Amino acid sequence: MQKLVIAIDGYSSCGKSTTAKAVAAALGYAYIDTGAMYRAVTLYLLENKIAFDDLPRIEQALHDMHITFKRNRRTGRNELCLDGQVREDEIRQMYISNNVSEVSVIPAVRHAMVRQQQRMGRKRGIVMDGRDIGTTVFPDAEVKVFMTADTHTRALRRQEELAEKGEQVELEAIIENLTKRDYIDSTRAESPLRRAADAVLLDTTHITIDEQVDFVLERVSAAL
Ligand code: C5P
Repeated sequence: MQKLVIAIDGYSSCGKSTTAKAVAAALGYAYIDTGAMYRAVTLYLLENKIAFDDLPRIEQALHDMHITFKRNRRTGRNELCLDGQVREDEIRQMYISNNVSEVSVIPAVRHAMVRQQQRMGRKRGIVMDGRDIGTTVFPDAEVKVFMTADTHTRALRRQEELAEKGEQVELEAIIENLTKRDYIDSTRAESPLRRAADAVLLDTTHITIDEQVDFVLERVSAAL
């Protein structure tokens, strides 16, 4: 059967990765969380004390670092590795969320990530979630979904996710982070967050994960 590229873009914490993972599992496709890649670059720059405006060092860092995904045999999940080490927990922490959008505006960072993402999807049969998948990484994706949800709902979901990982964060701080990231992501010059003209809109405020997954799978059936 023909293998597709499924692009799921949208605002922070509206259920993109949960939906994308379930869609990939249902279809037997690979799943790539592109946000994890930008988070890994941020972690690398912070750990190596590289300033976000030090372009020569950033370019060297992009050359030196290795971002990969490894399947965890126990959970079946794809985990992000930086230079061979699983760094899933660190990249999800608030201090990374508070810096990642500033790193993601840097054109050299975007070019390197987009190139790697295009390589990962060249055989198709992939679900990728992010901000610019349907517009820049795979403008020819057969299925494009743009997800949104109201800010309060998104913040509550994010707070729950962080709590599950043992990080207690005030709702106000999460709302501030989501709003700031969405603003920076939508207004940057290079591949900003925006809905591709041919993407279908999915508002997840009042629907369940199963309904989100069914919605995407229906689009896939229509595209096959
Ligand atoms: O998806 P997640 O919330 O983990 O993404 C973290 C950040 O990475 C986003 O706020 C955005 O700044 C950046 N990002 C991006 N392009 C993508 C995916 C994520 O700029 N394709």
